[in-house]
Order: sequence, then structure tokens, then C-alpha cells
Amino acid sequence: MKNNNSYVQIVYISHLNYKKMKEVDKVKIPKKWMMKNPWKFPEIVKNPIPIFKNILDENDGLVQISLLYRYAFMTDRPELIRHFLQKNHKNYIKTKIVREKLKEKIGNGLLTSDGDYWLKQRRAIQPGFHRKRLEAISKIMIQEINYYLDNYMERFAETGEVFDMSKEMTHLAYRIVSKSLFSGSISEDELSLIDQTITETQKLVINEIRQPFVKPWLWLKGDLKKNKELRDASDKTIFEAIEERRKSNEKHDDLLDMLLETRYEDGSGMTDQQLRDEALILYVAGHETSANALTWAWYLLATHPEVEQKLLHHAQDVLGGDSPSFEKIRELGYTLQVVEETMRMYPPAWITDREPLEDDEFEGIEIKKGQDIIAFIYGVHHNKKYWENPEVFDPERFSPENKKKQVPFSYMPFGGGPRLCIGNNFALMEMQFVLTEMIRRYKIEIIKDQKIELNPLITLRPRYGLKCRVKRRV
Ligand code: HEM
Repeated sequence: MKNNNSYVQIVYISHLNYKKMKEVDKVKIPKKWMMKNPWKFPEIVKNPIPIFKNILDENDGLVQISLLYRYAFMTDRPELIRHFLQKNHKNYIKTKIVREKLKEKIGNGLLTSDGDYWLKQRRAIQPGFHRKRLEAISKIMIQEINYYLDNYMERFAETGEVFDMSKEMTHLAYRIVSKSLFSGSISEDELSLIDQTITETQKLVINEIRQPFVKPWLWLKGDLKKNKELRDASDKTIFEAIEERRKSNEKHDDLLDMLLETRYEDGSGMTDQQLRDEALILYVAGHETSANALTWAWYLLATHPEVEQKLLHHAQDVLGGDSPSFEKIRELGYTLQVVEETMRMYPPAWITDREPLEDDEFEGIEIKKGQDIIAFIYGVHHNKKYWENPEVFDPERFSPENKKKQVPFSYMPFGGGPRLCIGNNFALMEMQFVLTEMIRRYKIEIIKDQKIELNPLITLRPRYGLKCRVKRRV
């Protein structure tokens, strides 16, 4: 689970001209703004993306929004985003909602920690995502993709029934990440328990962020207690798996093995609590994002038959009649282009944000300590200054030659700087595998005349899902 969308849910927006930025702190948000523009509020709550995009286009890529009680900057300017995510990243930490709310519910792992502790963990865990590890994990992935296709997609092909691709891709991505983490150490029932815990906890966090006033009600209804019980039960499962692994000599070559083998500079390893926190964070961060990107990819392929045909022929040429593999991944260049272009159009993590620790300055813009700054990733990816015809789906933008021309930070589905997504290569490999294996085996059709709308929750998903049918190819 990345970045929060509290802004989206509770903001009212104050238009400020970029040129007035230096006066920003003296400007009081007019209290009557909401009264003047009440019709905007439901629109913002439903889908803030078009509104954010318009006001950024009108204001040279930088505006200030009000978060009821505090200001935040929002920008789609790559050089400014690069400044706070990379060049002066030491001055920026995760925002309060991530540091407090998310940490309280899912633990102190890579996504939610900051400062020295984060750096120590990142240094220790990073090697776990290197090539050799991914090679081992690729086998688990392929196995899981084929298991899923044989047991679920096959049934849809058999019966011809309509299904929701968004739900299916979520199921598949959840299976891939859980098996990559725990391989055979956790039973199907226990995996479902962890999945249910995470889904319920995410809902609770979103609820608390959107409507902070409902917390007492959630407490009275017993929802908070129920969620705590669920989290305790799933923790118990994870702790047992860790204990079992510590005792056994068997090698699993999965992410849990990788976390267990992680060593700090002094040679010590992680405690059980640290292992649990990092495992859960990988789980949370690593499934909804890929699932959404895959769903959007199927939507784009079905609506662009020429790209779909090209991808199919590419998969057939590279793989012959085989499933994809780690060894073949470098040859699946066009699949990668499709994945990259999909995430440009529909970045699963559509915003990310930071809080400055000290006052900062960038090209005349004063960024005050404590004043959050939001990178509007969706806006960057759809900005005409950096992308020709940004609303057109064109995987050629990501051909090796064209990629070289891209402006730094004009494409950032995995964030940027030292906190770049640690699972980026994992996710790219997973998405390439799923697309090639599925397109090789099935023809996906989307049901005509269905409503497709953006639903920017924690990640960017289609609001009403994506209704599809499949036919077997082979
Ligand atoms: C399409 C798939 C994915 C997308 C679009 C994505 C996107 C992102 C983004 C934008 C960030 C940076 C957030 C920030 O700067 O505030 C991030 C961080 C992170 N992601 Fe991913 N992610 C994906 C898949 C994964 C997977 C598969 C895993 C793990 C297996 C993962 C684990 C993480 C972790 C642990 C962090 C925190 C890294 C740190 O702060 O050191 N992600 N991701």
C-alpha cells in the first residue's frame, strides 16, 4: 500500500498562482471557499484526478491545496519532484498518515519507516531483490501463474461466463506475492486469513483517513476490536512460519528465506518482529499495485487490437510453445514496453508525498517545514510538456531509442530517488510473465458498453471493475 489519499478525501482546493508562491504562507485559505464552490466537493471525493490536472495545467504545474487545517503543495513538475525525492531527499520524510496511521496498523517496515532505521533496513534488504534472487523467485511465479490459469481462467474459458478482470488479477497477484514470500510454509486457509486481514485493515485505514470523526463509531461498533483480533491471528500465523523456518534447514528460495538471511553490517540478523513487519509490508505493497497495472493492460490491449496482435506474435516468436522464463525475460522487450506504457497511462501509485523536516527552497519556491508536498504522478505522466499526445496508448514511446529521450522524473511509476520501489524488478517480471502467458493461452474480450472510470483509491483502479470473457487459443 503506497502513499495516502487523505488529501483527496478531505481537501478543498485553493487555487494559487505559481507566481504568488513566495507569499503562500501569508495567504489564508478563504473559509468561504467551500461555500462558494460546494458542487466541487463531491466531484473531488469521487475522482479528484481531472480537477487536480486542470488546476495544475492552469498554474504552471504547482498549486497549494488546503488539508482543512494545513497547507500542502501539489506539483507535476519533474524537476521539483526530483528535488524532494532525490536531490534533497534527506530533508523529506513520509507524511504523518503513513508515519502514524499506517505504521500503527501494518508495522514498521520499509514503506512506513524513515531516517537511519529505514536506511539500515533498505541496505540489508536490497540484495534480496537482486538478479540471482529474482531468478529463484521467477520459478515460484511461473508455477503460480500456471496454477491460477489452470484452475481459474480455464473455468471461465470452459463456461464462457463473464468475469471481473480486476478481481481476477487481484487474486492472481495476491497468490504470486504470498507464494513468493512464504512458498509452501503457510496453508491456503492461512493465506486467506492474511489476505482478509490486509483487505479489512486497508478499508479501516481509508475509513479513518476519509472520515476521522467516525473513529468513535467504529470503536463502538466493535470494528476496531475485530480488526485487532484479525491482525493478531494473522500475526500468529506469520510468527509460526518464521519460527518453523528458523528451525528447519530446508531451503525455499523465497522472500522469507531472503529476509531471514539478511545481515546487518555487524553480522546480526533481523528479530522476529522485524521479519514480520517487513514481510507484511512486502505483501501489502506488492499486490494491489501489480493487479491494477495488469487490469489496465488488459483493458488497453482489448481496445487496441493492433498492439494486442503485436504482443501475441512477439510472445509466440520469443517463446515458441513454452511458458515464459527468467532466461527469456530479456527477449520479451515488447512486453516490457506494453507494461511501461500501461503504467504511464494508469500509474497504480498515482500520487506520493513527503513532509519537509526543515525549510527548503527550490528555484525561488519556499517550502516550509511541515508543509507536505505531493507529487501528482498521474499528472506528470499525462503532461503535454513531456509526452506527445499523452492520452494515446503507444508502447513505442518505450522503445530503447525513445526511452533515452525521456526527461528525468517525467516517468515515475515506481517513485524515484533512494525510496524507489524495492519491488520494481519483481513487479516488472511478474507483469511480463502474466501478460505473455495469458495472451499465449487466451483471447481476452472485454464486454462492450461497460462504464470505465478511474477510481483513485490508495491505488488507481477501474471503478466498476473490468468485465471480460476469455476463449482458449491453444
Ligand atoms: C506495478 C507494481 C508496483 C508499483 C507501481 C509500485 C510503486 C511504488 C512506489 C511509487 C513506491 C514509492 C513510494 C514513495 O516514494 O512514497 C513504492 C515503494 C515500495 N514498494 Fe512498490 N510498487 C509496485 C510493486 C511492488 C512489489 C511487487 C513489491 C514487493 C514485492 C513492492 C514493495 C515496495 C516497498 C517495500 C516499497 C518501499 C520502499 C522504501 O521506501 O524503501 N512494490 N512502490
